[in-house]
Amino acid sequence: MSDYDVIVIGGGPGGYVAAIRCAQLGMKTACIDDYVNEQGAPSLGGVCLNVGCIPSKALLDSVHHYHRARHEFANHGIQVGEVSIDVAAMMQRKQQVVQTLTGGIAMLFTKYKIDWLPGRGCLVGEQRVRVESRGEDTLNEISADNIIIATGSSVVELEAAPFDDDRIVDSTGALAFAEVPRRLGVIGAGVIGLELGSVWARLGAKTTLLARSETFLRHVDRQIAEAVQQDLPDSGLEVQFGARLRSVKKTARQITVTWENAAGEHKLHVDRLLVAAGRRPNSADIGAETVGLKFDGRGFIEVDAECRTNLPGVYAIGDVVRGPMLAHKASAEGVAVAERIAGQQPQVNYATIPSVIYTWPEVAWVGQNAEQLQAEGIAFNAGVFPFAANGRAHAAGDTVGMVKILSDARTDTILGVHIYGAHASELIAEAVLAMEFSASAEDLARTIHAHPTFSEALHEAALAVDGSALHI
Ligand code: FAD
Ligand code: NAI
Repeated sequence: MSDYDVIVIGGGPGGYVAAIRCAQLGMKTACIDDYVNEQGAPSLGGVCLNVGCIPSKALLDSVHHYHRARHEFANHGIQVGEVSIDVAAMMQRKQQVVQTLTGGIAMLFTKYKIDWLPGRGCLVGEQRVRVESRGEDTLNEISADNIIIATGSSVVELEAAPFDDDRIVDSTGALAFAEVPRRLGVIGAGVIGLELGSVWARLGAKTTLLARSETFLRHVDRQIAEAVQQDLPDSGLEVQFGARLRSVKKTARQITVTWENAAGEHKLHVDRLLVAAGRRPNSADIGAETVGLKFDGRGFIEVDAECRTNLPGVYAIGDVVRGPMLAHKASAEGVAVAERIAGQQPQVNYATIPSVIYTWPEVAWVGQNAEQLQAEGIAFNAGVFPFAANGRAHAAGDTVGMVKILSDARTDTILGVHIYGAHASELIAEAVLAMEFSASAEDLARTIHAHPTFSEALHEAALAVDGSALHI
């Protein structure tokens, strides 16, 4: 008989959620996780809670308040005098948020009687996992009828710009600068570059992003991406496109980044350099060779649509498998796998996973964009409504951006929703729900939205799909 019904390797939003759902469904569950925080203590929640989604949003919220106090309060008649930032206090608050949430998961584990095993997990045989406990020389072997691999992902290190954990850093380092760098360089203008770049830019760092691609935000609807790109200077972000990194040199005084584009060679002098050029799956050192676990050609664990690996009773979820590297995708897969093990037949709808970039204003989307639909030869109608014509946006002073809804030309079914503007991260939920229920643009247009709200822009964009928007 096995020690457990389920062993989960990895305690991030994929693994811890899978463990909770397994326990809720009555399975005896263990979760092995090797993350150790700055204080040297094990901490559940993986990248997302410890050094990803949560701390980055805590900082983005702090700098948003700072920005408002400096640039917007006066418009409201609020006088606050000189505004300054205490970076240490901001970091302490961020850490407190992380501690509260990671501690909350530990409490949930206790509540659901999940065995939390701090240490590294490694597959050693059929249904058997070796746990290398932290700080101890003990190697325990445990067994389970089912194993869920949720080992997540790590930053990609560039040969030309090796991390020194001080001045040349990854996202974890950029979440913990002790002071505002005077000049910040960022390699990569993807999600992390934009989010963490804007944290420090809004605090006054002269921030330059080097983007390898000529196209800004390749996966985003062009009309939206172009609007975001146009507003980048307002966020204090300068982006150099088509920038090929040549070398990075450090002296005591500064870091010099040499890069090249069609116009020739350039040098960027900065005080700190953030490398945010993508992440790769944590699929090494988990015993794959020993047990014959298969990978796809890119280092991700190969799984079918139901997250089954090639080994019976072994599943893999989250960043370590194909699909977007997003916390909510990892969690959705975790829940689905737990329910599948329990004999249920859940489905993850990969077509309706929302994406958000938490800059200010935010960018959010779900489904297909105009270029993808064109490429697939799908006829569609588009409805666009700007926040500049939305009453609540004016009341709030957040009139930048738009909502764009794309619907099938024949059936009117919503195929994609793209939002650039304040609260896009919250507004997108309505679009996801509409798509989950295969709603038409007319369904959204006939839904009564409270007035005055930002969500009325979604309503108006839905009306605009057939040319009947009211306020434009
Ligand atoms: P992870 O969160 O990476 O967790 C895996 C865990 O397994 C880790 O604790 C790791 O230490 C542990 N582990 C690895 N190997 C082993 C082993 N052999 N034995 C035991 N334990 C092991 N996504 C969003 O959706 N929204 C956001 O706003 C967002 N912001 C982000 C900001 C930053 C700066 C970063 C870096 C990422 C962000 N992400 C965001 C991405 C998100 O963090 C990941 O998609 C998510 O954490 C993936 O969850 P996971 O459970 O697959 O893996
Ligand atoms: P990314 O894939 O979003 O962006 C990396 C960018 O770096 C790409 O545009 C790539 O072309 C560029 N690049 C790669 N090598 C380069 C080089 N040598 N020089 C210049 N540019 C180079 O990856 P990022 O920003 O590191 O984030 C990793 C993942 O984390 C994201 O894909 C996302 O899944 C997740 N994430 C999600 C967030 C969210 O949901 N809001 C926030 C932060 C991260």
